[in-house]
Amino acid sequence: MTNYQLKSYEEYQEAYQRSVEDPEGFWGEIADTFTWRKKWDRVLEWNFEEPNVKWFQGGKMNITENCLDRHLKTRGNKLALIWEPNDPKERFIRYTYRELHEKVCQFANVLKKNGAKKGDRICIYMPMIPELAIAVLACARIGAVHSVVFAGFSALSMADRINDAQCNMVLTSDGLNRGAKQIPVKRVVDEALENCPSVERVIVVERLGWAVNMVEGRDVWFHEEVKGVSKDCPAEEMDAEDMLFILYTSGSTGKPKGVVHTCGGYMVYAQYSFLNVFQYQESDIYWCTADIGWVTGHTYLLYGPLLSGATTLMFEGVPTYPDNGRFWQVCDKFGVTIFYTAPTAIRSLMAGDIDDVLSYSLDSLKVLGSVGEPINEEAWHWYHTHVGKERCPVVDTWWQTETGGIMISTIAGVTPMKPGHAALPLPGIQPILVDSEGNEITENGVEGYLCMKFPWPGMIRTTYGDHERARLSYFSTYKDLYFTGDGAKRDENGLYRIIGRVDDVINVSGHRFGTAEIEEAINHNEHVVESAVVGYPHDVKGQGIYAFVIIKDKPEKEEYLRAEIIETVVEKIGKIARPDKIQIVSGLPKTRSGKIMRRILRKVAEGDTSNLGDTSTLLDPDVVDEIKAGAL
Ligand code: PRX
Repeated sequence: MTNYQLKSYEEYQEAYQRSVEDPEGFWGEIADTFTWRKKWDRVLEWNFEEPNVKWFQGGKMNITENCLDRHLKTRGNKLALIWEPNDPKERFIRYTYRELHEKVCQFANVLKKNGAKKGDRICIYMPMIPELAIAVLACARIGAVHSVVFAGFSALSMADRINDAQCNMVLTSDGLNRGAKQIPVKRVVDEALENCPSVERVIVVERLGWAVNMVEGRDVWFHEEVKGVSKDCPAEEMDAEDMLFILYTSGSTGKPKGVVHTCGGYMVYAQYSFLNVFQYQESDIYWCTADIGWVTGHTYLLYGPLLSGATTLMFEGVPTYPDNGRFWQVCDKFGVTIFYTAPTAIRSLMAGDIDDVLSYSLDSLKVLGSVGEPINEEAWHWYHTHVGKERCPVVDTWWQTETGGIMISTIAGVTPMKPGHAALPLPGIQPILVDSEGNEITENGVEGYLCMKFPWPGMIRTTYGDHERARLSYFSTYKDLYFTGDGAKRDENGLYRIIGRVDDVINVSGHRFGTAEIEEAINHNEHVVESAVVGYPHDVKGQGIYAFVIIKDKPEKEEYLRAEIIETVVEKIGKIARPDKIQIVSGLPKTRSGKIMRRILRKVAEGDTSNLGDTSTLLDPDVVDEIKAGAL
């Protein structure tokens, strides 16, 4: 184990202080433990104005050499990946580091054989099958930039992302399993590609054995392409600041943006945060339940654990299939020691029968993690008591697609833990709270907007194809600060509690959507004149989607119209963005300048209409009474 794993609170404090006083020395020493083909010329160059952030410039490396090759000597026969299928009756798959290395090299050669090269953008739209993990690493191996699109997004969403990044290749599968359902993935790809002229090649992995449409000259089967292909593929040499991947995420305006992460800094931060937060040990069996389509899957299912030489478990299914005990059954089956999941999954399982948990021993568990949204205290205690048997620390990890890795979190058993609190920043992370003018609030026992005042290696570098957008989204709200979009409290002891987004972003089951993005989708429905979307507290999802919609003519049956509007959103974005409630209204509360007063709509959606504040500045104050009366 590398010696930068913090073992006590004192060590944490020392490391933290060092990281602030001498960030370059601090990160340089950590980076030194990785495999570089050439050492960097300079640890850090930065300003948050442009922004321009460069870590380990001039350093040459390949992240897959660090994830795979460097472990072969000492961990060649150790399990790298365990894959558990959706159906518990189907056999699981295991790859040692040596086998995974071969699989990745072979896939990389298939990519090359099909014309892929360094710098190309490759869209991966695949379910949680081993080939997804292998495909991601294969892209990194040859220096192609992966852009993974979660396989629950619609064809239109995929097409937008492919076009934005100008991908020339798509990696996909015939179909996918999700609980009792099977979904024709390739058909979605075909639909998307009707509008994606940049794509020249589609490689299809067989999962269900379905007959699918194969376009001559464009589509090939992976199992045919791989025949006779070498298992040896030297890694492409990358500069530390070359792009590693793009991952699209929603913001408060416009279409989702392509968050860009680069090779060197991301690598260093992924391993450092993984080793520390979870206090990973060589014999651990680590399971992160996130899909690789999200950043959590990138950093803490794939890169972080593999960089650390860990055994990482990948699960194809859902927590509720074939029953509510599935997570716990898998924990027992493989002796999982570190388990990392989302509050929404915990809340959905909490609602079920407690015997679904109690009938499994869960003796192997040592550390539990939570990610993606605030974890309410009830869920925290349930997780801690029934899953962790009060002996496993629960680490509430706060971070974002843009941060690349965990920023604020309890370090298991090392730094303080408090329900509902992410607690303290990791070494190297300098959070501050500011007021609405951007003035730093230095005391404890306060609330403010969460910003970062110093760069860290895993941070976003740009938004693909539009650097100005990155500047405007993250670096222009407060001068010389990275603005997270979150509000946070700092308690008397300096522990952080993340309250949630302060912009027009809704967090549904840990997934981000811009209200504008959902409104735009709803407005595509031919019956809709205008809409306004807000989030409201939802027992399982954290936040639900509440849409207020003005329609052209009164329909015969409102239910049909609602179903149609939902269908439009599913088509434009995907099932994950379905509105939970749709209220038909004749007007929206707007100011005289035409701005929708979402504050009022949020209150109505929350069911709290007792104090709507000042409504006198509204263009038509009467509309508020109607909205209140019709609230769902
Ligand atoms: O609002 C915060 C919330 O999720 C947002 C980031 O979403 P995304 O980029 O999709 O990444 C999710 C996985 C890292 C944040 O701005 N969030 C994430 N983790 C937490 C959280 N809110 C509270 N507590 C957390 N632990």
